Amino acid sequence: MIAPVLLLALSSVVSAIPVKRAQPTDWMQANIGLLGSRPLIHIAIPGSHDAGMSVIGAGTAFSDAANTQTQTLSINQQLVAGSRYFDIRPVISGGAYTTGHYSDVSVIDSWQGSDGQSIADVISDINSFTATNDELVIINLSHAYDTDGDNSDYPIFTQAQWEALFTQLLGLNHRYVDPNPTTVDLTRVPLSTFIGSSAAVLIIIQPDSPVDLGSFASQGFYQYSQLNAYNEYADTNTLSTMESDQLSKMASQRGSPDQSYFLLSWTLTQDALETIGLGDSILTLANSADPALYTALPPKLSANTYPNILYIDNFQNDGKIVDLAMTINTNFAAQ
Ligand SMILES: *[C@@H]1O[C@H](CO)[C@@H](O)[C@H](O)[C@H]1NC(C)=O
Repeated sequence: MIAPVLLLALSSVVSAIPVKRAQPTDWMQANIGLLGSRPLIHIAIPGSHDAGMSVIGAGTAFSDAANTQTQTLSINQQLVAGSRYFDIRPVISGGAYTTGHYSDVSVIDSWQGSDGQSIADVISDINSFTATNDELVIINLSHAYDTDGDNSDYPIFTQAQWEALFTQLLGLNHRYVDPNPTTVDLTRVPLSTFIGSSAAVLIIIQPDSPVDLGSFASQGFYQYSQLNAYNEYADTNTLSTMESDQLSKMASQRGSPDQSYFLLSWTLTQDALETIGLGDSILTLANSADPALYTALPPKLSANTYPNILYIDNFQNDGKIVDLAMTINTNFAAQ
Protein backbone atom coordinates (compact mmCIF):
# COMPACT_ATOMS: atom_id res chain seq x y z
CA MET A 1 0.00 0.00 0.00
CA ILE A 2 1.28 3.47 -0.87
CA ALA A 3 1.38 5.88 2.04
CA PRO A 4 -1.10 8.76 1.64
CA VAL A 5 1.68 11.30 2.02
CA LEU A 6 3.55 9.72 -0.90
CA LEU A 7 0.39 9.84 -3.04
CA LEU A 8 0.05 13.49 -2.18
CA ALA A 9 3.64 14.15 -3.22
CA LEU A 10 3.16 12.21 -6.45
CA SER A 11 0.00 14.08 -7.39
CA SER A 12 1.70 17.43 -6.89
CA VAL A 13 4.52 16.31 -9.21
CA VAL A 14 1.99 15.26 -11.85
CA SER A 15 0.06 18.54 -11.68
CA ALA A 16 3.33 20.48 -11.93
CA ILE A 17 4.12 19.01 -15.37
CA PRO A 18 3.39 21.90 -17.75
CA VAL A 19 1.01 21.53 -20.66
CA LYS A 20 3.10 21.09 -23.79
CA ARG A 21 2.63 24.09 -26.02
CA ALA A 22 4.41 25.35 -29.10
CA GLN A 23 4.38 29.04 -28.17
CA PRO A 24 5.71 30.63 -24.96
CA THR A 25 3.67 32.92 -22.70
CA ASP A 26 5.18 36.03 -24.31
CA TRP A 27 4.41 34.76 -27.79
CA MET A 28 4.47 38.21 -29.43
CA GLN A 29 7.98 39.01 -28.14
CA ALA A 30 9.13 35.51 -28.99
CA ASN A 31 8.06 36.14 -32.61
CA ILE A 32 9.03 39.80 -32.85
CA GLY A 33 11.45 39.08 -35.69
CA LEU A 34 8.55 37.84 -37.81
CA LEU A 35 5.83 40.19 -36.54
CA GLY A 36 7.60 43.38 -35.44
CA SER A 37 7.49 45.25 -38.74
CA ARG A 38 3.89 44.31 -39.49
CA PRO A 39 0.92 46.57 -38.77
CA LEU A 40 -1.86 45.06 -36.66
CA ILE A 41 -4.00 44.65 -39.79
CA HIS A 42 -1.46 42.05 -41.02
CA ILE A 43 -1.40 40.05 -37.78
CA ALA A 44 -3.76 37.51 -36.19
CA ILE A 45 -4.22 37.51 -32.41
CA PRO A 46 -6.53 35.62 -30.02
CA GLY A 47 -9.24 37.54 -28.14
CA SER A 48 -11.80 37.00 -25.40
CA HIS A 49 -15.54 37.70 -25.65
CA ASP A 50 -17.07 39.21 -22.50
CA ALA A 51 -13.68 38.73 -20.90
CA GLY A 52 -14.55 39.71 -17.33
CA MET A 53 -17.22 37.05 -16.86
CA SER A 54 -15.16 34.24 -15.33
CA VAL A 55 -16.76 34.85 -11.95
CA ILE A 56 -20.39 35.60 -11.19
CA GLY A 57 -21.04 38.30 -8.63
CA ALA A 58 -24.17 40.27 -7.81
CA GLY A 59 -26.94 40.09 -10.38
CA THR A 60 -30.63 40.31 -11.12
CA ALA A 61 -33.31 37.75 -10.20
CA PHE A 62 -33.28 35.85 -13.49
CA SER A 63 -29.54 35.72 -14.08
CA ASP A 64 -27.20 32.90 -13.21
CA ALA A 65 -23.95 31.34 -14.38
CA ALA A 66 -25.73 29.49 -17.19
CA ASN A 67 -26.88 32.69 -18.86
CA THR A 68 -24.09 35.13 -17.94
CA GLN A 69 -20.80 33.22 -17.54
CA THR A 70 -18.71 33.37 -20.73
CA GLN A 71 -15.22 32.61 -19.39
CA THR A 72 -13.59 30.31 -16.82
CA LEU A 73 -10.14 31.97 -16.68
CA SER A 74 -9.49 35.34 -15.04
CA ILE A 75 -8.12 38.18 -17.18
CA ASN A 76 -4.63 37.38 -15.90
CA GLN A 77 -5.03 33.69 -16.74
CA GLN A 78 -6.39 34.57 -20.19
CA LEU A 79 -3.31 36.75 -20.78
CA VAL A 80 -1.04 33.90 -19.71
CA ALA A 81 -3.04 31.63 -22.06
CA GLY A 82 -2.30 34.00 -24.96
CA SER A 83 -5.35 36.23 -25.33
CA ARG A 84 -4.42 39.79 -26.30
CA TYR A 85 -7.79 41.42 -27.05
CA PHE A 86 -10.40 41.83 -24.32
CA ASP A 87 -14.08 42.69 -24.63
CA ILE A 88 -14.63 44.54 -21.34
CA ARG A 89 -18.16 45.64 -20.45
CA PRO A 90 -17.98 48.07 -17.55
CA VAL A 91 -20.95 48.62 -15.26
CA ILE A 92 -21.53 50.53 -12.07
CA SER A 93 -22.71 48.16 -9.35
CA GLY A 94 -22.93 49.06 -5.68
CA GLY A 95 -21.27 52.37 -6.51
CA ALA A 96 -18.13 50.69 -7.92
CA TYR A 97 -16.89 49.85 -11.39
CA THR A 98 -17.02 46.19 -12.29
CA THR A 99 -17.37 44.13 -15.44
CA GLY A 100 -20.87 42.89 -16.18
CA HIS A 101 -22.98 40.95 -18.63
CA TYR A 102 -26.40 42.55 -18.84
CA SER A 103 -29.06 42.68 -21.52
CA ASP A 104 -32.50 44.10 -22.02
CA VAL A 105 -34.94 41.16 -21.96
CA SER A 106 -37.89 42.50 -23.84
CA VAL A 107 -40.40 39.73 -23.00
CA ILE A 108 -40.25 40.65 -19.33
CA ASP A 109 -39.45 44.30 -20.03
CA SER A 110 -36.45 44.37 -17.72
CA TRP A 111 -32.67 44.22 -17.68
CA GLN A 112 -31.12 40.95 -16.54
CA GLY A 113 -27.53 39.99 -15.87
CA SER A 114 -24.66 39.62 -13.42
CA ASP A 115 -21.40 41.26 -12.46
CA GLY A 116 -18.04 39.66 -13.26
CA GLN A 117 -14.51 40.61 -12.18
CA SER A 118 -14.17 44.09 -10.71
CA ILE A 119 -12.36 46.76 -12.71
CA ALA A 120 -9.84 46.94 -9.86
CA ASP A 121 -9.10 43.22 -10.41
CA VAL A 122 -8.89 43.70 -14.18
CA ILE A 123 -6.29 46.43 -13.66
CA SER A 124 -4.18 44.39 -11.24
CA ASP A 125 -4.47 41.28 -13.47
CA ILE A 126 -3.13 43.21 -16.46
CA ASN A 127 -0.42 45.01 -14.49
CA SER A 128 0.93 41.79 -13.03
CA PHE A 129 1.13 40.31 -16.55
CA THR A 130 2.75 43.33 -18.20
CA ALA A 131 5.28 43.61 -15.34
CA THR A 132 7.06 40.55 -16.74
CA ASN A 133 5.78 40.25 -20.34
CA ASP A 134 6.41 42.94 -22.98
CA GLU A 135 3.22 42.12 -24.86
CA LEU A 136 0.44 44.16 -26.50
CA VAL A 137 -2.88 44.17 -24.63
CA ILE A 138 -5.99 45.66 -26.26
CA ILE A 139 -8.99 46.57 -24.10
CA ASN A 140 -12.31 47.36 -25.80
CA LEU A 141 -14.81 49.10 -23.49
CA SER A 142 -18.50 48.93 -24.48
CA HIS A 143 -21.97 48.13 -23.08
CA ALA A 144 -21.45 50.55 -20.18
CA TYR A 145 -24.52 50.71 -17.90
CA ASP A 146 -25.31 52.07 -14.47
CA THR A 147 -26.98 49.04 -12.85
CA ASP A 148 -27.58 50.72 -9.49
CA GLY A 149 -31.02 52.01 -10.49
CA ASP A 150 -34.29 50.25 -11.31
CA ASN A 151 -33.70 47.38 -13.74
CA SER A 152 -36.66 48.30 -15.92
CA ASP A 153 -34.22 50.55 -17.76
CA TYR A 154 -30.51 50.79 -16.92
CA PRO A 155 -29.08 54.08 -18.17
CA ILE A 156 -25.88 54.20 -20.19
CA PHE A 157 -22.86 55.94 -18.58
CA THR A 158 -22.86 59.71 -18.52
CA GLN A 159 -19.74 61.61 -19.58
CA ALA A 160 -18.87 62.03 -15.88
CA GLN A 161 -19.26 58.27 -15.22
CA TRP A 162 -16.97 57.50 -18.17
CA GLU A 163 -14.41 59.99 -16.88
CA ALA A 164 -14.44 58.43 -13.41
CA LEU A 165 -13.83 55.04 -15.06
CA PHE A 166 -10.97 56.47 -17.14
CA THR A 167 -9.46 57.93 -13.98
CA GLN A 168 -9.49 54.48 -12.37
CA LEU A 169 -8.00 52.96 -15.54
CA LEU A 170 -5.06 55.37 -15.29
CA GLY A 171 -3.91 52.70 -12.84
CA LEU A 172 -3.05 50.53 -15.86
CA ASN A 173 0.71 50.55 -16.43
CA HIS A 174 2.30 50.77 -19.90
CA ARG A 175 -0.59 52.63 -21.57
CA TYR A 176 0.55 53.25 -25.15
CA VAL A 177 0.43 56.93 -26.14
CA ASP A 178 0.83 57.49 -29.86
CA PRO A 179 2.62 60.67 -31.08
CA ASN A 180 -0.64 61.51 -32.91
CA PRO A 181 -3.08 60.27 -30.29
CA THR A 182 -6.34 61.61 -31.72
CA THR A 183 -5.72 60.83 -35.39
CA VAL A 184 -3.65 57.62 -35.48
CA ASP A 185 -5.18 54.57 -37.13
CA LEU A 186 -3.90 51.91 -34.72
CA THR A 187 -4.51 49.10 -37.22
CA ARG A 188 -1.67 50.54 -39.35
CA VAL A 189 0.91 50.79 -36.56
CA PRO A 190 3.66 48.12 -36.62
CA LEU A 191 3.74 45.78 -33.64
CA SER A 192 7.30 46.81 -32.73
CA THR A 193 6.16 50.43 -32.32
CA PHE A 194 3.92 49.22 -29.51
CA ILE A 195 6.15 46.65 -27.83
CA GLY A 196 9.66 47.46 -29.06
CA SER A 197 10.86 48.41 -25.60
CA SER A 198 8.08 47.54 -23.14
CA ALA A 199 4.59 46.16 -22.83
CA ALA A 200 1.79 48.27 -24.36
CA VAL A 201 -1.84 48.62 -23.36
CA LEU A 202 -4.42 50.17 -25.71
CA ILE A 203 -7.75 51.28 -24.27
CA ILE A 204 -10.44 51.60 -26.95
CA ILE A 205 -13.89 53.00 -26.17
CA GLN A 206 -17.10 52.15 -27.99
CA PRO A 207 -19.75 54.10 -26.06
CA ASP A 208 -23.45 54.00 -26.94
CA SER A 209 -23.44 57.76 -27.29
CA PRO A 210 -20.40 59.94 -28.02
CA VAL A 211 -17.91 60.49 -25.21
CA ASP A 212 -15.25 63.19 -25.19
CA LEU A 213 -11.86 61.76 -24.25
CA GLY A 214 -10.48 65.19 -23.35
CA SER A 215 -7.05 64.88 -21.72
CA PHE A 216 -7.42 61.08 -21.58
CA ALA A 217 -6.73 61.07 -25.34
CA SER A 218 -3.08 61.75 -24.56
CA GLN A 219 -2.95 59.06 -21.86
CA GLY A 220 -3.60 55.88 -23.85
CA PHE A 221 -7.35 56.09 -24.50
CA TYR A 222 -8.64 55.93 -28.11
CA GLN A 223 -11.94 56.27 -29.91
CA TYR A 224 -13.40 53.20 -31.59
CA SER A 225 -12.75 54.64 -35.06
CA GLN A 226 -9.01 54.39 -34.31
CA LEU A 227 -9.14 50.59 -34.07
CA ASN A 228 -12.10 50.06 -36.28
CA ALA A 229 -12.82 46.36 -36.29
CA TYR A 230 -15.52 44.70 -38.31
CA ASN A 231 -17.27 42.79 -35.52
CA GLU A 232 -20.65 41.22 -36.36
CA TYR A 233 -21.72 38.14 -34.42
CA ALA A 234 -24.00 35.54 -36.00
CA ASP A 235 -26.59 35.62 -33.19
CA THR A 236 -27.38 31.92 -33.41
CA ASN A 237 -27.01 28.87 -31.18
CA THR A 238 -26.47 26.58 -34.18
CA LEU A 239 -22.82 25.81 -34.84
CA SER A 240 -23.08 25.25 -38.60
CA THR A 241 -25.01 28.51 -39.04
CA MET A 242 -22.41 30.46 -37.04
CA GLU A 243 -19.57 28.86 -39.00
CA SER A 244 -20.95 29.75 -42.40
CA ASP A 245 -21.98 33.24 -41.21
CA GLN A 246 -18.53 34.09 -39.87
CA LEU A 247 -16.56 32.45 -42.69
CA SER A 248 -18.59 34.25 -45.35
CA LYS A 249 -18.20 37.57 -43.48
CA MET A 250 -14.46 36.92 -43.41
CA ALA A 251 -14.41 36.24 -47.15
CA SER A 252 -16.24 39.47 -47.92
CA GLN A 253 -14.33 41.65 -45.43
CA ARG A 254 -10.89 40.25 -46.17
CA GLY A 255 -10.57 40.10 -49.93
CA SER A 256 -7.13 41.57 -49.31
CA PRO A 257 -5.07 42.05 -46.13
CA ASP A 258 -5.66 45.83 -46.13
CA GLN A 259 -9.42 45.78 -46.71
CA SER A 260 -10.65 45.85 -43.10
CA TYR A 261 -9.59 44.88 -39.59
CA PHE A 262 -11.63 41.73 -39.06
CA LEU A 263 -12.79 40.11 -35.85
CA LEU A 264 -13.93 36.51 -36.32
CA SER A 265 -16.72 36.26 -33.75
CA TRP A 266 -16.52 32.52 -33.06
CA THR A 267 -19.25 32.50 -30.44
CA LEU A 268 -22.70 30.98 -30.11
CA THR A 269 -25.58 32.96 -28.59
CA GLN A 270 -28.32 31.42 -26.44
CA ASP A 271 -31.88 31.50 -27.74
CA ALA A 272 -34.78 32.73 -25.60
CA LEU A 273 -35.40 29.31 -24.00
CA GLU A 274 -31.74 28.76 -23.19
CA THR A 275 -31.52 32.14 -21.46
CA ILE A 276 -34.21 30.97 -19.02
CA GLY A 277 -32.42 27.70 -18.27
CA LEU A 278 -34.09 25.42 -20.81
CA GLY A 279 -31.15 24.13 -22.78
CA ASP A 280 -27.45 24.77 -23.06
CA SER A 281 -25.49 27.25 -20.94
CA ILE A 282 -23.19 29.77 -22.62
CA LEU A 283 -20.17 27.67 -21.58
CA THR A 284 -21.71 24.49 -23.02
CA LEU A 285 -22.29 26.27 -26.31
CA ALA A 286 -18.68 27.54 -26.20
CA ASN A 287 -17.39 24.03 -25.66
CA SER A 288 -18.95 22.96 -28.95
CA ALA A 289 -17.89 26.09 -30.87
CA ASP A 290 -14.25 26.31 -29.73
CA PRO A 291 -12.96 22.94 -31.07
CA ALA A 292 -14.68 23.58 -34.41
CA LEU A 293 -12.47 26.64 -34.98
CA TYR A 294 -9.47 24.38 -35.61
CA THR A 295 -11.17 22.41 -38.35
CA ALA A 296 -13.48 24.98 -39.97
CA LEU A 297 -11.11 27.94 -40.30
CA PRO A 298 -7.87 26.52 -41.79
CA PRO A 299 -9.39 25.48 -45.17
CA LYS A 300 -10.65 29.05 -45.66
CA LEU A 301 -7.30 30.77 -45.07
CA SER A 302 -5.21 32.32 -47.80
CA ALA A 303 -2.63 35.08 -48.18
CA ASN A 304 -5.51 37.47 -48.85
CA THR A 305 -8.08 36.13 -46.43
CA TYR A 306 -7.40 35.61 -42.74
CA PRO A 307 -8.86 37.03 -39.52
CA ASN A 308 -7.16 39.60 -37.27
CA ILE A 309 -8.88 38.64 -34.02
CA LEU A 310 -9.86 35.05 -33.14
CA TYR A 311 -12.61 35.84 -30.66
CA ILE A 312 -14.03 33.13 -28.40
CA ASP A 313 -15.85 32.28 -25.18
CA ASN A 314 -14.27 29.99 -22.57
CA PHE A 315 -10.66 30.81 -23.49
CA GLN A 316 -8.49 27.86 -22.42
CA ASN A 317 -4.81 27.59 -21.52
CA ASP A 318 -4.10 24.73 -23.91
CA GLY A 319 -1.98 26.76 -26.34
CA LYS A 320 -4.17 25.84 -29.30
CA ILE A 321 -5.51 29.24 -30.22
CA VAL A 322 -2.07 30.87 -29.98
CA ASP A 323 -0.72 28.13 -32.21
CA LEU A 324 -3.52 28.81 -34.70
CA ALA A 325 -2.80 32.56 -34.66
CA MET A 326 0.90 31.89 -35.23
CA THR A 327 0.12 29.41 -38.01
CA ILE A 328 -1.84 32.20 -39.71
CA ASN A 329 0.95 34.72 -39.05
CA THR A 330 3.62 32.37 -40.39
CA ASN A 331 1.87 30.81 -43.39
CA PHE A 332 -0.73 33.30 -44.60
CA ALA A 333 -0.34 36.82 -43.22
CA ALA A 334 1.43 39.46 -45.32
CA GLN A 335 5.16 39.73 -44.65
C1 LIG B 1 -15.84 46.94 -29.22
O1 LIG B 1 -17.05 46.42 -28.74
C2 LIG B 1 -18.16 46.81 -29.49
C3 LIG B 1 -19.38 46.25 -28.82
O2 LIG B 1 -19.30 44.87 -28.68
C4 LIG B 1 -18.05 46.33 -30.91
O3 LIG B 1 -19.15 46.78 -31.67
C5 LIG B 1 -16.77 46.83 -31.50
O4 LIG B 1 -16.58 46.26 -32.77
C6 LIG B 1 -15.61 46.46 -30.62
N1 LIG B 1 -14.39 47.06 -31.12
C7 LIG B 1 -13.44 46.34 -31.62
C8 LIG B 1 -12.19 47.07 -32.00
O5 LIG B 1 -13.54 45.16 -31.78
